[in-house]
Amino acid sequence: MHTLKELQNRIGEAFGDTRFIHQPTHLYEPIAYTLDQGGKRLRPVLVLLSCELFGGDIEEAVFPAMGLEIFHNFTLLHDDIMDHAPLRRGKETVHQKWDVNTAILSGDTMFVLAYEFVAKTNPKLLPQVLDLFNSTARKVCEGQQYDMNFETQAEVSIDDYMMMIRLKTAVLIACSLKLGAIIAGADAVSADKIYDAGIELGLAFQLQDDFLDAFGDISKFGKTIGGDIATNKKTFLFLKSYQLANAQTRQNLTDLFLGSGTDSDKKISGIIEIYKQLQIDEITRREIEKHHKKALEALTSLNFGKESKGELLSLMDEMLCRER
Ligand code: IPE
Ligand code: IPE
Ligand code: MG
Ligand code: MG
Ligand code: MG
Repeated sequence: MHTLKELQNRIGEAFGDTRFIHQPTHLYEPIAYTLDQGGKRLRPVLVLLSCELFGGDIEEAVFPAMGLEIFHNFTLLHDDIMDHAPLRRGKETVHQKWDVNTAILSGDTMFVLAYEFVAKTNPKLLPQVLDLFNSTARKVCEGQQYDMNFETQAEVSIDDYMMMIRLKTAVLIACSLKLGAIIAGADAVSADKIYDAGIELGLAFQLQDDFLDAFGDISKFGKTIGGDIATNKKTFLFLKSYQLANAQTRQNLTDLFLGSGTDSDKKISGIIEIYKQLQIDEITRREIEKHHKKALEALTSLNFGKESKGELLSLMDEMLCRER
């Protein structure tokens, strides 16, 4: 049984051993730039952790785990274009450092690389692994489209928002856990249960991301604070405020959110001020805890050794209390 730290190191080593630079360098340098930054590498660690929980050999999961991490990083390159984000992991985003065309094509190449790595799996498992990866990748795109639609859609409910984050974020977290289970040869019922736990974990994880986007510390978060407000994202924070606000505050929110000509810094500070008045930070934390609990419930029926389950539980804690 490996500790979390050992699994994280194993993934770090695997990326360190892989050369991502080829010709033309203009295509591959942004890929190496992105993958070398690391980030938290949660998804590949979840793959290894789940593989081990179900009694598998983590070495058989390393390449597919890297594939999911490369896929995740590909989505970030395109997401940062779509969200007009200048900063990620405390560094310039690819479209900012190079240009939009570079971020599109290096991103496309990473999507192909992701398939190459995911496919380095036991040939007998390949159809199952590809089915899971294909459906996940398509759902992430669907979620990203809803995210874009909601920027300008007048009526968005909290249920719509939950559906959207399930697609754009939670399915990849769930896929990571299920992929580890499949590689370990887990039965279908157990693989589906850990998938369900992953969905709840992923919902909580995106809620935490939206929380940090308003209440985080830029030096830790590594992304601009207020980016979601500046781009009119209908996050849980915004939708809940709108639901709880009185008529006057609701009008202020709408004016700030939609007001053309509102200075971006003023818009961000004005909306965060309303979030604070309505105690949206507390309410969001409770919502995160609700999904955290549901994830734990989904895990209860699975028979894991105490030691390995402990590592998963602490990773889940880390994911939901994170500041970066
Ligand atoms: C960022 O994911 C995108 C979301 C789904 C919130 P992470 O927070 O896992 O990003 P990195 O890879 O650690 O930078
Ligand atoms: C993350 O949504 C979803 C995907 C990248 C697929 P965000 O747009 O909130 O992610 P960050 O905050 O830019 O990392
Ligand atoms: Mg974004
Ligand atoms: Mg986005
Ligand atoms: Mg975000």
